[in-house]
Amino acid sequence: MEVFVARSRLALISLLLALLSLSFGSSSSLTSSSSELQILTAERRIDLASHIIRVVLTLKVQNDGASPAKNVLLAFPPPQVKHLALIQAAELTGKKKKKAVHPLDVTPSDHADGPNGAKFFSISLRNPLTTGGSVSIEVSYILTQSLEPFPVEISQSEPQLVLYRDSALILSPYAIKQQTTVIRTPSTKVESFTRVEPSSQIRTELKYGPYENQSPYSYTPILVHFENNNPFAVVEELVREIEISHWGNLQITEHYTLVHNGAKHKGGFSRVEYQSRPTISGVSSFKHLVAKLPPRVHSVYYRDNIGNISTSHLRTSYSKSELEIEPRYPLLGGWRATFVIGYGLPLQDFLFESNDGRRYLNFSFGCPIAETVVNKITNKVVLPEGSKNPSVIVPFSVEHLSETKYTYLDIVGRPVVVLEKENVVPEHNSHFQVYYNFHPMFMLAEPLMLTSVFLFLFVAAVAYLHMDISIRK
Ligand SMILES: *[C@@H]1O[C@H](CO)[C@@H](O)[C@H](O)[C@H]1NC(C)=O
Ligand SMILES: *[C@@H]1O[C@H](CO)[C@@H](O)[C@H](O)[C@H]1NC(C)=O
Repeated sequence: MEVFVARSRLALISLLLALLSLSFGSSSSLTSSSSELQILTAERRIDLASHIIRVVLTLKVQNDGASPAKNVLLAFPPPQVKHLALIQAAELTGKKKKKAVHPLDVTPSDHADGPNGAKFFSISLRNPLTTGGSVSIEVSYILTQSLEPFPVEISQSEPQLVLYRDSALILSPYAIKQQTTVIRTPSTKVESFTRVEPSSQIRTELKYGPYENQSPYSYTPILVHFENNNPFAVVEELVREIEISHWGNLQITEHYTLVHNGAKHKGGFSRVEYQSRPTISGVSSFKHLVAKLPPRVHSVYYRDNIGNISTSHLRTSYSKSELEIEPRYPLLGGWRATFVIGYGLPLQDFLFESNDGRRYLNFSFGCPIAETVVNKITNKVVLPEGSKNPSVIVPFSVEHLSETKYTYLDIVGRPVVVLEKENVVPEHNSHFQVYYNFHPMFMLAEPLMLTSVFLFLFVAAVAYLHMDISIRK
């Protein structure tokens, strides 16, 4: 198995350059930069409204050292690194109307672990930060599976309470002059939260800080216990098959294993109570989910191991299609459902020809169901028979394998590009491309085979008739 970091060629080159500059820019400059940078202001916003935790960190970094700084390090406690699904950074320039956002590369740093096993990510700056200069950086990251149900089991009539652990102070290898953290909860129903003065609750927000002059690696654990009845929809495994037919169709088949990953349901389940008192009975369960599909979708089906499920609704518009899927039973904590969604799409919306004459598929990577975490996704792109030299561009790291698939009338089989990724969130729903060479002659292979079979049958029939006649004589 080979691990590829598939990226656009340009991004690959810039990444290589960044890596080169990292390795050439001697480790001493890296370590010295950590002590010579200072964070003037830091603001962190943690959104706990769903089960996918989104954090935005805005930093103003100043270089107090003698030499220019090329990188800024971010530190994370080990449990967060394990649940980190995505991390992005951008440089902010200008004020008000002239504001601009310039994306920056963030890579796991090979820097030795910090105190208490803190792990580092390195942000490569657009321009080295000169002595006395400062830069504004916005970092956004996503954590999954970081809300712990407490109590672990609830009955049908109870709401779902969860725990979130973090630090009131932002973990950083640099001193922070002034910082605040705001934690947004889904409702005002907060059972308890650790107080680190000054801290307060204002409606659905918990505010920690401002805290002044904190030394590097300051850490003050906090625990927030609150009500969160949003669907904890986790797809344990999603296998998507995307089959290209040069006769004009793209066929998608998605196999789901869905689980409600919140507090486990205990005791019996009363459907009567569930249906008659929906606001208090099974509030953390979910009955239906919405899958966002591309416009012009056709032949949609939704089935499980029993058969077709007709309680699904498809709404189509010019810009998108929405499929509302409703499993046979509502999903309560810990319950599972396995099902398959299939649909067809017009090929011309997704298959293009590049400047060098290669064909390429441009399709979305992630799970089309809103607000779900996918523990493991496998995208299988089945290319037409006779396709050669497939290559892939994905905007994040994935595992890349290849297979061959045989269907009826195939002689050499269809090349299959397999892309696997773990811990996938809706933000991974960006496009990826699969490029391949294809000789139009192969389009004729199947019709030629069919005509030759018919020709053979015809000849055989004629021969048989002739034989028949000869016997009668
Ligand atoms: C299920 O629905 C699909 C698409 O509407 C249809 O082609 C198929 O025959 C149906 N299967 C059953 C068992 O009803
Ligand atoms: C792929 O499709 C997306 C959405 O339609 C578009 O923004 C993007 O430019 C396309 N990429 C390529 C390489 O064609």
